[in-house]
Amino acid sequence: MDVLGRDEIIHYLNGGNDVELFAAADRLREQSFGREVYLRAIVEFSNFCNKKCNYCGLRAPNSNVNRYRLATDTIVESAISAAEAGVRTIVLQSGDDFSYSSAQVEQIISGIKESHDVAVTLSLGDRSAAEYEHWFSCGADRCLLKLETTDPVIYRRIRSGADFHERLELLLSLQDIGYEVGSGIIVGLPDYTVEHLADDLLFLSKLELDMIAAGPFIPHPDTPFYFAEAGNIDLSYRFTALARLLNPFSNIPATSALDSFDSEGRKKGLLRGCNVIMPSVTPVSKRKDYNIYPGKNAVSVDVTDTISRAEKLVYALGFTLSASKGSSRRMNNVE
Ligand code: 5AD
Ligand code: SF4
Repeated sequence: MDVLGRDEIIHYLNGGNDVELFAAADRLREQSFGREVYLRAIVEFSNFCNKKCNYCGLRAPNSNVNRYRLATDTIVESAISAAEAGVRTIVLQSGDDFSYSSAQVEQIISGIKESHDVAVTLSLGDRSAAEYEHWFSCGADRCLLKLETTDPVIYRRIRSGADFHERLELLLSLQDIGYEVGSGIIVGLPDYTVEHLADDLLFLSKLELDMIAAGPFIPHPDTPFYFAEAGNIDLSYRFTALARLLNPFSNIPATSALDSFDSEGRKKGLLRGCNVIMPSVTPVSKRKDYNIYPGKNAVSVDVTDTISRAEKLVYALGFTLSASKGSSRRMNNVE
């Protein structure tokens, strides 16, 4: 397939030729990554959040959440048990919970990096660029900062008055600091159009991201968007397939939101251009409380079981699990 223009992207997003699109995305994934799929283990260490995103179950005003904060030792232990189960990337994720000091985050990063040769990804939200710079110097490797939409007007609406350009500026600072940076969007937010999604694809691709994530919108009953229609899962597959065509070497996860629609969702994602899966290794007793959207973390099994289920999924498709950390291949990095 030649370089895709906006009109062609819109044609594919509208379902113009799914067979051709998915086959081309699968071929390109194979060319870039062979049979290898990367596992990223997520430790969701706090569900406190000071933000009010209208789509998210963890938003501050939602009083129906059992809020928890894991102690730094527990966070490091969870990461280590995932590393011992063979995972080479640990993602530390929380709501925008600024009660963890910069020194505590440093302690978590060092605790993990000192015990295992793994990559550490931070998904901590709008902390300052200075803090992120410090954590980079402590050994953190990657950051995940979702834009959720690249339209500033929709951004303000869905993130309750927040400013898109501030978020974008932080993302660009993370790239300047030297992090491998991932971002992404939610497919099918209220008032979206396929034209918005085409622009999201072009915008994200121009950012030359190391990781691009997208999953379907799932209305959460305790949010202002409870009434909205759910995103379309086919549109989400098309979005990630097109993201692959536009970004041959970026890491693209088959998100767990796919499995909330279809028990085969992540499998289908991996057969349509995605090359990463991100199982949760949050302590079982807390997992159901990290309820960003209904169905999230529905399966509560311990770390070893979680990883072996993910492995089975990968092997059943004829893929292998990569033994490397899966640094971005965008720049042809080698480990
Ligand atoms: N539906 C789908 N995805 C969501 N996210 C948050 N809320 C929802 C929802 N209702 C995604 C966002 C966020 C990530 C942790 O989960 O992209 O960054
Ligand atoms: Fe908080 Fe992130 Fe949810 Fe927004 S999307 S309310 S920042 S956890």
